[in-house]
Amino acid sequence: MTENIYSPLEDRYESGMSYMRCGESGILLPRVSLGLWHNFGAVDTLSNCRKILHYAFDHGITCFDLANNYGPPYGSAEETFGQIMKSSFRPYRDEMIITTKAGYDMWKGPYGIGGSRKYLMASLDQSLKRMNLDYVDIFYSHRFDPDTPVRETLQALVDIVRSGKALYIGISKWPFEATQYAFTYLNNHDVPCLIYQGRYNMIDRTVESAGTLTQAKENGVGFTAFSPLEQGMLTDRYINGIPEDSRAAKNKFLKQEKITPEWINKLNALKIIAGERGQTLAQMALSWVLKDDRVTSVIVGSSSVNQLADSLKCVDNVSFSNDELEEINRIIFG
Ligand SMILES: NC(=O)c1ccc[n+]([C@@H]2O[C@H](COP(=O)([O-])OP(=O)(O)OC[C@H]3O[C@@H](n4cnc5c(N)ncnc54)[C@H](OP(=O)(O)O)[C@@H]3O)[C@@H](O)[C@H]2O)c1
Repeated sequence: MTENIYSPLEDRYESGMSYMRCGESGILLPRVSLGLWHNFGAVDTLSNCRKILHYAFDHGITCFDLANNYGPPYGSAEETFGQIMKSSFRPYRDEMIITTKAGYDMWKGPYGIGGSRKYLMASLDQSLKRMNLDYVDIFYSHRFDPDTPVRETLQALVDIVRSGKALYIGISKWPFEATQYAFTYLNNHDVPCLIYQGRYNMIDRTVESAGTLTQAKENGVGFTAFSPLEQGMLTDRYINGIPEDSRAAKNKFLKQEKITPEWINKLNALKIIAGERGQTLAQMALSWVLKDDRVTSVIVGSSSVNQLADSLKCVDNVSFSNDELEEINRIIFG
């Protein structure tokens, strides 16, 4: 069987995507990155995965967010990405920021989970094989492991960069104090932390109240927001019920009990504001995250090209009036 030869759109960098400097680094990130947590596993349709990835790259998305355990099954999102890397993206590798992570349970036994040097190094080697890559651009500690000495985790990250298997380091979901220690340690070892990855959206504002956004900014570190649509809850996906092919239908990571009639009323009210802004709900939710210039990029998930096409337009209008912000707060929390 002959492979489809992929030619990306010539005008991919003129299609509306904007880029922001990641902290005080040399790297610019697209304001919208694509995440492969869901919809890219072995259980998903490869042709759809390919279409979404091609669409993303064709429209200026240069940052692809993966982790060792994305699938299902674990590892299979990296394998999917690896296949498309081989068949489509190989000539464009230098135009891409590809990330992976380790921290959660990945393989059996005591060395397949956590923050040990043993686990992080072995996991990255496995990820590179699955993705058909020599190196990743960003390697993340996926979570803080209180049972591993923090210096061991951080020194492993430093050594990973020194080995050339990752160009930059990121940390995800680390608590405030440990994050400050990490930023300092990494700086002192000449491998400054590039980016912090945390959940941030109109519903979940923990990174504001915990001081994480300001901490990243003050340390010259970028911030990227995961689940900016709260897994689809901040879109029109559930306004008329729970579609069979939706994440909530699986009732695993997004529980159906969250889609209450009260929440649907709130969505309908938010939709009016979005409409007045000339946006869909999803676009407004993403723009809301991007309005804060401490946020470098939102990592959006998509199960179809149509969703991604819709989401991408969020970059067109990332400013909000005070009245809009107050009304959004009143609807969500009032
Ligand atoms: N560091 C971490 O621990 C961590 C944790 C979670 C996520 N992440 C990263 O963040 C990425 C994004 O997370 P997420 O998938 O939870 O993101 P999300 O963007 O909050 O939700 C994505 C889901 O929303 C729905 N959707 C997306 N665009 C839509 C649109 N325009 N209109 C209507 N519905 C739309 C789709 O649901 P359906 O699938 O139902 O169609 C899609 O799968 C992940 O892929 C991963 O890379 C990292």
